Amino acid sequence: MYPALHNCKQRSSEMELHRLAPLLLVCLCMLLPRAHGSRKLYVAYLGERKHGHPDDVVASHHGTLSSILQSKQEILDSIVYSYKHGFSGFAALLTKEQARQLAELPEVISVQPSRRYKTTTTRSWDFLGLNDKVPSELLTRSRYGDDIIIGLIDTGIWPESRSFNDDGYGPVPSRWKGVCQTGVGWDRGNCSRKIIGARFYHAGLTKEELKADYLSPRDARGHGTHTASTAAGSAVEAAGFHGLATGTARGGAPRARIAVYKSVWRSAAGAGVGTTATVLAAIDDAIHDGVDVLSLSLVVEENSFGALHAVQNGVTVVYAAGNSGPAPQLVRNTAPWVITVAASKIDRSFPTVVTLGNKQQIVAQSLYYEAKNSSGSTFRLLADGGLCVDALNGTDVRGQIVLCAAFQSPPFLLFPIALSNVLDAGASGLIFAQYSMDALDVVADCKGIPCVLVDMDMANQISNYMADASSPVAKIEPARTVTGEVEAPAPKVAAFSSRGPSVNYPEIIKPDIAAPGASILAAKGDSYALLSGTSMATPHVAGVVALLKALHPDWSPAALKSAIMTTASVTDVRGMPILAQGLPRKFADPFDYGAGNINPTRAAEPGLIYDIDPSDYKKFFGCTFKKSVQCNATMLHGYQLNLPSIAIPDLRHPITVSRTVTNIGDFNAVYRAVIESPAGVRMDVEPSVLVFDAASKVITFQVKLSPLWRLQGAYTFGSLTWLNGQNTVRIPIAARITIHDFYADVS
Ligand SMILES: *[C@@H]1O[C@H](CO)[C@@H](O)[C@H](O)[C@H]1NC(C)=O
Ligand SMILES: *[C@@H]1O[C@H](CO)[C@@H](O)[C@H](O)[C@H]1NC(C)=O
Ligand SMILES: *[C@@H]1O[C@H](CO)[C@@H](O)[C@H](O)[C@H]1NC(C)=O
Repeated sequence: MYPALHNCKQRSSEMELHRLAPLLLVCLCMLLPRAHGSRKLYVAYLGERKHGHPDDVVASHHGTLSSILQSKQEILDSIVYSYKHGFSGFAALLTKEQARQLAELPEVISVQPSRRYKTTTTRSWDFLGLNDKVPSELLTRSRYGDDIIIGLIDTGIWPESRSFNDDGYGPVPSRWKGVCQTGVGWDRGNCSRKIIGARFYHAGLTKEELKADYLSPRDARGHGTHTASTAAGSAVEAAGFHGLATGTARGGAPRARIAVYKSVWRSAAGAGVGTTATVLAAIDDAIHDGVDVLSLSLVVEENSFGALHAVQNGVTVVYAAGNSGPAPQLVRNTAPWVITVAASKIDRSFPTVVTLGNKQQIVAQSLYYEAKNSSGSTFRLLADGGLCVDALNGTDVRGQIVLCAAFQSPPFLLFPIALSNVLDAGASGLIFAQYSMDALDVVADCKGIPCVLVDMDMANQISNYMADASSPVAKIEPARTVTGEVEAPAPKVAAFSSRGPSVNYPEIIKPDIAAPGASILAAKGDSYALLSGTSMATPHVAGVVALLKALHPDWSPAALKSAIMTTASVTDVRGMPILAQGLPRKFADPFDYGAGNINPTRAAEPGLIYDIDPSDYKKFFGCTFKKSVQCNATMLHGYQLNLPSIAIPDLRHPITVSRTVTNIGDFNAVYRAVIESPAGVRMDVEPSVLVFDAASKVITFQVKLSPLWRLQGAYTFGSLTWLNGQNTVRIPIAARITIHDFYADVS
């Protein structure tokens, strides 16, 4: 059923790395380039493909390279990937001088070094209103995403996971043109009616970087299995992490088909590595194969022409915003044509009771569970380890619980150091004081000792008790799982979620949307794990896109994004504004969560759509991909693109922004504008009433933003909402009044 992939290069390198068989050695010597001299991997972009047959596109790439390389052999040695389906371009090993020469050729739009990049449940879907026990209308009407194909560009997949069981699935959709590429620990039988395709890409990575992974679509790291099962895992009863977060694990579109594009590899140190070249190769193939939505939980180069071509081919591209929050301006993957996803925290927590010797109880958070060989929850001596960043050899803490405090540094950085120092010193427990990072996975593996997170106030209480007691003791009990509104406010934007504004596209609000991404339970290997990150939020959006696409097959990627954004929630379950966790905690704004937290049920019937013809992107962002000399100064402003958001980074005089909405609800509908102006800005909408009927389905309106003050200001935020009886169509607005260009106030 699966066409074999006749790719000598892939096979040969796999041979070389794993010495499976000497069969294709000839092929290997010819095609596997030896790294020599100072050649590096570059990615050349040639724009839209201009030839009908992929072979002709490849021939044209060889033609281009023949201008700078002498022989056919040199070309074959140099070229690593030809991008020939969704767009034209190639990845090639070149010297710096050759890359410069290549960039000067008229047919070449850009040449960039291939950069390294990194990767950044159960309850979350119930929280979003998609419960399969009481199936939501969206789930049943979309037939659980049946026949929608979600492509995951990630670390591969673990096909044995119960989440990818294909029992009861119909045949693979006939439009599918992908392959099942075999390799180490992966044969044709590992593809199924659930995992309908699998490929892998490793060009540009060294043997050293690949040796800790399977040279195949198999996932050694667990990240890709987690994201795939979040987007499209079949329902699995009684999943959990050592008794925590138990329930039915399933993906957002539990019947959708999965196509695996492994482009991130597990390094010996356990981190993920990949390159621009491999991600582009994956996107090019995914366009060819016929995926409907691509989910990329990784941070890649901004200049994402691959994603642009995917969108032009009708593929919705969903990217992680990155995990660099709460600092501003670090949001990544911000191209206007993709959906950039922030991470929110759901209404689940893992309270862990710490009892002090004076009977005072403190409720910490942890993923501590009673291991079989654990010494149980008993009172132990408490020791103060200070910051715990240095070895604790000054103090004898064997068998004791150590209190450590990370006052300023992100706990992501300090916790592992503190844990390692505390373990080295022979301690039997760790109480770690920090500001909230909403990422419990740092405490998921504490090598058998209980480790809990507390805030500064709790740490202070413990310190006070320690100062008073002659021999202070504490007891840590295993964590419990608590869900529902009675606990902390939810959703909240997670502290680690990267924040806007976008440096590359300031005339666009980024991120676009927030989705659950903190302590998400999903498949990892044969079991289930809680992971946090915008990596976990991204497949939530991909799953929702799959459901919406099943319901509305004719919607463009821009329409799907519009539906998701204009229906997002900006208030929590109690109607309070959504908070953004960080330093300090505050009300969330569009640079934290874009349009808000995703609301799948409402997204199914958005009323109005802000659509974009994919060819429009070029009118606005031609300079993005072109050599600077070709940039057209008359290019339109990014804020004129018909996005479901408006950002004006330099408001010095009144600016009028145009938007067009398409009515996709009842023919006869009247919408009225509800305006919430950003502080310091006057906002006028014309017309302020939109009257739709059978003849008039598309209406353009103007939003005029006028500065009320003259100052070098910070961003303020507002919104424009179109209301009729049934629908609330809201877009976020960000504006900054300025006087000078590039004026920083960071003193
Ligand atoms: C996947 O293939 C391997 C052999 O390469 C086999 O051992 C394993 O059982 C297969 N798994 C599934 C789910 O078919
Ligand atoms: C701890 O021990 C290490 C290695 O023995 C030593 O280098 C370091 O200075 C010691 N630190 C303290 C605070 O004593
Ligand atoms: C620059 O853009 C404007 C507006 O889109 C267009 O009319 C003009 O022809 C373009 N010029 C060049 C040199 O591409």
